Amino acid sequence: MFENNELPPRGDRLAGKAAIVTGAGSRERSAPGIGYAMAVLFARQGARVVVADMDEARAATTLKVIGEGGGEGSFIGADITREEDCRKLAEGCVERYGSLDILVNNAGIAGSGKVTDYEEEVWDVALDVNLRGPVMACKYAAPCMAAGGGGSIINISSIDGLLAGAYLNVPYSVAKGGLATLTKLMAVHHGRENIRVNCLAPGHVHASFTAGFADEERERRRKIGPLGTEGTAWDVAYAALYFASDEARWISGIVMPVDGGLLAATPLAVMGNLGE
Ligand SMILES: NC(=O)c1ccc[n+]([C@@H]2O[C@H](COP(=O)([O-])OP(=O)(O)OC[C@H]3O[C@@H](n4cnc5c(N)ncnc54)[C@H](O)[C@@H]3O)[C@@H](O)[C@H]2O)c1
Repeated sequence: MFENNELPPRGDRLAGKAAIVTGAGSRERSAPGIGYAMAVLFARQGARVVVADMDEARAATTLKVIGEGGGEGSFIGADITREEDCRKLAEGCVERYGSLDILVNNAGIAGSGKVTDYEEEVWDVALDVNLRGPVMACKYAAPCMAAGGGGSIINISSIDGLLAGAYLNVPYSVAKGGLATLTKLMAVHHGRENIRVNCLAPGHVHASFTAGFADEERERRRKIGPLGTEGTAWDVAYAALYFASDEARWISGIVMPVDGGLLAATPLAVMGNLGE
């Protein structure tokens, strides 16, 4: 299993709700993914969770942990870049659980290079998985939510989608920036259906997505932040839990960094942290 795999405490903040988390498996084994953490936490808080992934074996780990924790979850195989799979996801959730109350667009993929390194395939994949997939998932989820009286959509962007990041991931960053903008547009267009749409922008989190980073790079990412600590998938999951719950009934259209304070700083304000 994972290094920091403690199960969060049980509660009822999502009791009676049905949720879909895309990319709810973890690509890497050395650290739990953000999708995994959200699926497990939501189930611990009483939601019935559709663990959606294009890789069944990765999803199986998540489902095993949900089951061991006494929660309810089930798998729907879906590649979010396929419209038919996105339809199947939303309809499958309603068929199984009677409603669709929460959708987390978490599945994401890197896409590197500057504009001058442009390669059609790299851009296609980055935009397909990180932006077009979430759009299609919302296309089918939103009517199901509206039919049930409303819902909460949570898009997982990145600090790299808001500002120029450290790794020259232009296709990734542009797609994640699009996801932040999509959040605001959808919050306005679907507000009267009582659908809230919010976005989380994780920062220097050590999770599955970044598990391959060398120790020195991990250390640099930790040190530069105002809090000086490393984020985990659970930090992002707890922020998502708030957006998903009725506690956030009047919060919509916001993009919230989960970054230990990093985006509050100008570069010169935190540069000294590296010399600690
Ligand atoms: N870890 C970080 O530092 C960090 C920072 C900012 C943003 N993020 C974002 O967090 C999100 C999730 O990270 P994670 O750690 O859960 O990632 P991960 O790489 O472990 O991926 C989770 C799952 O997504 C699945 N997946 C990939 N493409 C898919 C597709 N087309 N359809 C369905 N499933 C697909 C994979 O099979 C995998 O099981 C990503 O969107 C990432 O961009 C991470």
